[in-house]
Amino acid sequence: MNLEKFIANVSDFPKPGIEFKDITPLMANGEAYRYATEQFIEYAKEVGADVIVGPEARGFIFGCPVATELSLGFIPIRKPGKLPREAVEYEYELEYGTNTLCMHRDAIKPGQKVLVIDDLLATGGTVEATINLVKQLGGNVVGCAFLIELEFLNGRDKLQNVDVKSLIKY
Ligand code: PRP
Repeated sequence: MNLEKFIANVSDFPKPGIEFKDITPLMANGEAYRYATEQFIEYAKEVGADVIVGPEARGFIFGCPVATELSLGFIPIRKPGKLPREAVEYEYELEYGTNTLCMHRDAIKPGQKVLVIDDLLATGGTVEATINLVKQLGGNVVGCAFLIELEFLNGRDKLQNVDVKSLIKY
């Protein structure tokens, strides 16, 4: 299935000069959503994932159905102030300023094989922070899967020793 035709290109969102990739038409089409999810499920089997980790908010959309289909756990990566129990944090640089992501300290058991799933690989900051959080807890990232990869932003450069799969490339 050609998934690209279910992505809407929105000019000048959220800022002038940016072309936003809107995944909501794909999600609204049951067959396309199912097909994309199946690709992630096959990849999760291939890498032998024990647990799925997904960053807020759009990582949940693809990560959760993969976890339930394979009877694996799903661990949310959240923005600060959202997790109710003790959490580990990782702060990373943006073009202007910094971002912090958090994960519950007891979310991953040492040695667990983790598959990170998100909708988009852009600069790679989010996935790099996610990998760092998993490693802080002794987890082993066996793969990272994305619906969309913006190759011109070179996010893969931050994922040197990690297996990466993306379903749509721009
Ligand atoms: C978007 C997207 C990825 C991240 C990719 O999330 O869903 O998680 O950016 O960009 P990067 O590779 O440059 O880090 P966003 O931060 O907009 O959060 P949201 O899903 O909660 O809107």
